Amino acid sequence: MAKDYLTKVIQNKSLAKEMVALRLQVEGEFPDLAMGQFVLIQVPGRPDIVLRRAFCIADYDKASKQISVVFRVIGEGTAVLARVQAGQELQVILPLGSGWDMTKYQTQMEAPIRHIWLVGGGIGVVPLCGIPKEYPQFDYTSLLGFRGKDDSVLAAYFDNSQIATDDGSIGHQGMVVDLLRPAYDKQKPDLILACGSVPFLRGLKNIQTQGWLQSTQNTPIPIYASFETKMACGVGACMGCVIKVDGQKKRVCKDAIFDLTKVEL
Ligand SMILES: Cc1cc2nc3c(=O)[nH]c(=O)nc-3n(C[C@H](O)[C@H](O)[C@H](O)COP(=O)(O)OP(=O)(O)OC[C@H]3O[C@@H](n4cnc5c(N)ncnc54)[C@H](O)[C@@H]3O)c2cc1C
Ligand code: FES
Repeated sequence: MAKDYLTKVIQNKSLAKEMVALRLQVEGEFPDLAMGQFVLIQVPGRPDIVLRRAFCIADYDKASKQISVVFRVIGEGTAVLARVQAGQELQVILPLGSGWDMTKYQTQMEAPIRHIWLVGGGIGVVPLCGIPKEYPQFDYTSLLGFRGKDDSVLAAYFDNSQIATDDGSIGHQGMVVDLLRPAYDKQKPDLILACGSVPFLRGLKNIQTQGWLQSTQNTPIPIYASFETKMACGVGACMGCVIKVDGQKKRVCKDAIFDLTKVEL
């Protein structure tokens, strides 16, 4: 159950231009978390910024009661958060959304999950980066897309990654979906987990509808996707984050991860 926690900044690390990692110590009892969930952080010292800002959990450690978030500075709220100092206190609501759930995905598949692709674009790679730590029993290939070399620092959070950049400053010049076919010809995945902007996920869904993403059992490879829509309340009350799934309105902040074939994009 999501609660408001007092946290203390343990580390504020600049990863690249306008890219920041914060490590926070959670006061009190540490909640049960799963990768893929997110938190809402109050922007400190700015009562005029009413809405808390949403960030995916990039990592957590139950023993030390710490969580990490990684974010890009895009506006006033993130600019303030980028300047917080070690020792400073932040109010954080956590955990929100639903995490990646391999047990649930497995029940809907015939063959056992062995090899998983993590497919992400830009800051959307963050909710994917902790999956191998949480599920070490699987093999992973990470297919990651970035604007350029600066953003690609996030690839350091992944093993066995292939990169595409818009400007070609590192990896393949082009889109991350360009990486799919060569990777597929090398080793077919059993499951694909994805996160990114709506245009990014639309591109991935287009590839899925082409029909060649078939498993070794010749069945369509499932793609589960986490969405980055704009949010207000973050707890399911305002309907500000709704997308259409299987003809029904679903709140991203509550339901969070969806079978991509069923999402209307
Ligand atoms: C569930 C969820 C998880 C997220 N996880 C991360 C994360 O791990 N790392 C990260 O860097 N960001 C993440 N975001 C986005 C992050 O919440 C926004 O970047 C942040 O709230 C912007 O706050 P701001 O005050 O700096 O910008 P604002 O002043 O609020 O906005 C600046 C500009 O960015 C646009 N904008 C604001 N929020 C979004 C958004 N969600 N998507 C697209 N455009 C937006 C605004 O329309 C405006 O043009 C996540 C968002 C959601 C909903
Ligand atoms: S952000 Fe309010 S319902 Fe999702």
